[in-house]
Amino acid sequence: MMRGRFITFEGGEGTGKSSHASLLAQKLRTLGIGVVLTREPGGSPGAEIIRHVLLSGAAKPLGTAAEAILFAAARDDHIRNTIAPALARGRWVICDRFTDSTRIYQGELGGVDDKLLRALERVTVGDLKPDLTFVLDAPVEIGMARASQRRGDAATDRFESESPDFHERLRDAFRMLALSEPNRCVLIDASGMRLEVADQIWNVVNKRLDPATAPVAFEGVAS
Ligand code: TYD
Repeated sequence: MMRGRFITFEGGEGTGKSSHASLLAQKLRTLGIGVVLTREPGGSPGAEIIRHVLLSGAAKPLGTAAEAILFAAARDDHIRNTIAPALARGRWVICDRFTDSTRIYQGELGGVDDKLLRALERVTVGDLKPDLTFVLDAPVEIGMARASQRRGDAATDRFESESPDFHERLRDAFRMLALSEPNRCVLIDASGMRLEVADQIWNVVNKRLDPATAPVAFEGVAS
């Protein structure tokens, strides 16, 4: 069976990654493609436990390198139990955040040594590179306002509570990523209307991955 496609969404807080990941999954399913929609940190039972440790801020006192190791442990579990088996069955996997987030949050902003990050990638990800990565970009004020609206009365998580300057640097780093890997990454202006942004994403998927010719899943589309 042909390996499925692997698509990731990246970007700062409140740029709309999760809603666009989910809209794309719906569109692909209408073509009969089996889609697994997942997220990081998390996406498998083991990784969801580590997610809680990371996003609650419980691991923050250990330092950014230890956080990077925990993100890698979560990713390892997620790949083994969710991503790799799905791709092997011909499913398309759409993942809300992946290794680029580690490179940017822990590496560029957290100062974790690039050598450590590359070593962690080698043992967790190996050559499982995404076929396509959307980098969603919006002004920091818009992203922060969306994130706080979504959160309601709940407390900010470990990364949302960083300074505005952190979020500006984050935005720059994601834009640089898109420029530096044009074969894999597409920068999307996510400040506009949701449906227009979704159309842009859909056009790119059609042009680059040609879903209309993908084999149709016969065992149901939910998994
Ligand atoms: P989440 O609630 O999924 O936020 P968002 O909707 O913004 O994606 O939380 C994920 C948080 O974890 C987010 O602040 C980014 C951070 N993160 C890292 O710092 N490194 C990583 O490798 C990953 C996957 C996420």
